[in-house]
Amino acid sequence: MSIVREQFRLAQEPLDTLPTPSALREGLCQADAAIVTLGDRIDAETIHAATRLRILANYAVGYNNVDLATAQARGLVVTNTPDVLTDATADLTWALLLAVARRVVEGDILVRSGGWTGWSPTQLLGAEISGKTLGIIGMGRIGQAVARRAVGFRMPVRYHTRQPQTGRSFPSEWEYRSLQDLLGESDVVTIHAPLTPTTHYLIGARELAWMKSTACIVNTARGPIVDEGALVHALKTGIIAGAGLDVYEREPAIHAGLAQLKQVVLLPHLGSATVDARVQMGLVCLKNIHAVLDGHPAPNMVC
Ligand code: DGY
Repeated sequence: MSIVREQFRLAQEPLDTLPTPSALREGLCQADAAIVTLGDRIDAETIHAATRLRILANYAVGYNNVDLATAQARGLVVTNTPDVLTDATADLTWALLLAVARRVVEGDILVRSGGWTGWSPTQLLGAEISGKTLGIIGMGRIGQAVARRAVGFRMPVRYHTRQPQTGRSFPSEWEYRSLQDLLGESDVVTIHAPLTPTTHYLIGARELAWMKSTACIVNTARGPIVDEGALVHALKTGIIAGAGLDVYEREPAIHAGLAQLKQVVLLPHLGSATVDARVQMGLVCLKNIHAVLDGHPAPNMVC
């Protein structure tokens, strides 16, 4: 923010909480450039109202919060923040995966509660991860970074993407599978696809039923890719064994059933939440804003 203050006049002070839709619109109407976050819904009405705005720098790699078709039609440049948050998000995916498999949160709660009576051979037994099969849905930057981390765990990697192998040179150990085969074969399934009309509810009751009853699912991508109601049912009835979620269908609300389930680890959308990643994301936004205001193409233009 000190760089922003040095280089720009702020139309609106940044908030650490989401602005109301009217405050958001009011701010955007006064600005030539804006940095918005993934919770800010930039709909057609807002885009049309913000007549002065030339660039909308989305402080996220995902941009499903922006009506791209309207932005494109009105000539508004939209940018995102790829690369700089890849490692942070891949690391958090592994943190969730391990936390679910090894019951880390349950263990923490037991110790803090004062209820721990000492080591026991059967206490909080979890699932061994090493050597098990990792299924990755979406093999962009973050999916690949998650796959690279699997080497240390000796986990065979299976992946599913909409465009299987076109022009990609993945290591030969990473094997493509149809969605059904990937879900049936994997011990851990992790989602790294963008939210689009095609991926909305990609994982519902039918897909969860394809998974092993011992498997768990991790989602650090976007909540609406998973049907949360179907997930709660699958967890409650033993269709799958566990879940690690960083994202939700209607953030910040979560399905009432989730919080009651011990086999679920819930995080508040922390994928990119490292100091390094968040600073870099800000710098990427500024680089894009300067490019557009100086009449150059934005390096991270999504439309
Ligand atoms: C993104 O950049 O899309 C992430 O979800 C933010 O943490």
